[in-house]
Amino acid sequence: MSSSAPSKAPASGSGAGTRGGPRHVAIIMDGNGRWAKKRLLPRAMGHKKGVEAVRNLVRSLRENPVEALTLYAFSTENWGRPADEIADLTALMKHFIRNDLDEIAQAGVKLKIVGDYSVFDDEAVKLIDGALARTAGNNKVTLAIALNYGAQAEIVRAARAAAEEGEITEEAIARHLDTADMPPLDLLIRTSGEVRLSNFLLWQAAYAELYFTDVLWPDFSPAHFREALDHFAGRERRYGGR
Ligand code: FPP
Repeated sequence: MSSSAPSKAPASGSGAGTRGGPRHVAIIMDGNGRWAKKRLLPRAMGHKKGVEAVRNLVRSLRENPVEALTLYAFSTENWGRPADEIADLTALMKHFIRNDLDEIAQAGVKLKIVGDYSVFDDEAVKLIDGALARTAGNNKVTLAIALNYGAQAEIVRAARAAAEEGEITEEAIARHLDTADMPPLDLLIRTSGEVRLSNFLLWQAAYAELYFTDVLWPDFSPAHFREALDHFAGRERRYGGR
């Protein structure tokens, strides 16, 4: 890269209609509760279907290659939810690791956690540590799960660390973010029709394309993901219409 290139230039190039695929995609997986409510099911069923959507999405990365995918699974604000829902979400995470780790590890996925997961129960922390260690040598794609994550607190931590090193600059802060070793965020997707960032990757989203869809997370399929990637690349697929 030329040294005169502006440091803030989007990583994936520019020019409408000519961009390639995004390197790093993040998703706010919203709408599990509404999905369940529409079907008169308990919220836990919405979260369970939400994990299936995660599984299908990760499997589809073979056909939809990105370097990194970051999923917002549990925010610092989620601690305000009823205890039984927090327990359901924690149990689903543990089940996901127990059930899916072999497949994920064999597919070359490197797992990463953004946020402070040490606050979850000991069993969850052990499972997560094991999953991180097992996939540490993988390099096909990084799957980052945001757990007990909040962007404002992350920025404060990074700024403090930068200050301790001597100088608070944009580069120094970026170096201390949880995502420091990941490619720049290109595309941020939020499902379920809500148009908010909800304290997710606020720093990283500075130059990201934002993509909002009304699809509820449990219904979000690899085809929906493909649509978002095509939108990013400036390609409108008309599927034979017009
Ligand atoms: C938002 O739906 C979703 C969450 C708070 C949790 C998302 C978590 C998962 C899909 C499971 C993640 C698991 C792994 C293994 C990555 P909501 O409950 O806020 O829905 P609502 O807005 O319709 O009520």
